[in-house]
Amino acid sequence: MLHLDNGFDLRPAGSEDAAKIALWMAQPHIQQWWHQNWSVEHWAQEIERQAAGEHSVPCVAAVDAEDFGYVELYRVRHDRLAEYYSALDGDWGVHVAIGDVTRVGRGLGRQLLRALADALLLADPACLRVVAEPDVENLPSVRAFAAAGFVQQGELQLPDKTALLMVRTRTVED
Ligand SMILES: CC(C)(COP(=O)(O)OP(=O)(O)OC[C@H]1O[C@@H](n2cnc3c(N)ncnc32)[C@H](O)[C@@H]1OP(=O)(O)O)[C@@H](O)C(=O)NCCC(=O)NCCS
Repeated sequence: MLHLDNGFDLRPAGSEDAAKIALWMAQPHIQQWWHQNWSVEHWAQEIERQAAGEHSVPCVAAVDAEDFGYVELYRVRHDRLAEYYSALDGDWGVHVAIGDVTRVGRGLGRQLLRALADALLLADPACLRVVAEPDVENLPSVRAFAAAGFVQQGELQLPDKTALLMVRTRTVED
């Protein structure tokens, strides 16, 4: 369990979280962008697959001890995204989904994203940048990342979407 700023906790997801994550992923506001409305079994396998590899770390985010969202932290050098911009070896990427619908659109996302980026930059000295690639049309996501200090670096034409590359550095000057 990693304690982040502002009362957030982050813990690695296990297969025991698959039912909760599957429920979250079925919510229309998430399904619309994630396209991962899978069965509980599929999610259990997915969590195990990720946990066994080098690419990404599936996590559950909580605030004040209540689980509310799913986070994937990924090493860009092992991700397709590395083919689309000049990634540095230490770059981490973030995917996020607030599953608890009562908590969406209330500023929680931007607080979590800021706390997450701060924690990654602090925990990994080799990490100079934390990046995200929201769909250009996903305005709530783009606005939440921007409010968390991620700066737009231009559009990327990915196989399945036009994304905005958004980058959070240690300091504004970096
Ligand atoms: C993206 C997500 C994590 C952001 O968290 P959040 O707590 O909802 O975000 P915040 O409340 O901090 O900010 C939302 C912003 O979007 C704006 N917004 C909300 N709905 C909007 C809409 N339909 N059109 C335009 N802007 C919208 C809000 O006004 C706010 O911006 P502002 O305060 O700067 O004006 C959350 O919405 C979510 O889980 N969405 C579904 C999954 C997803 O899209 N994940 C991201 C994939 S990259």
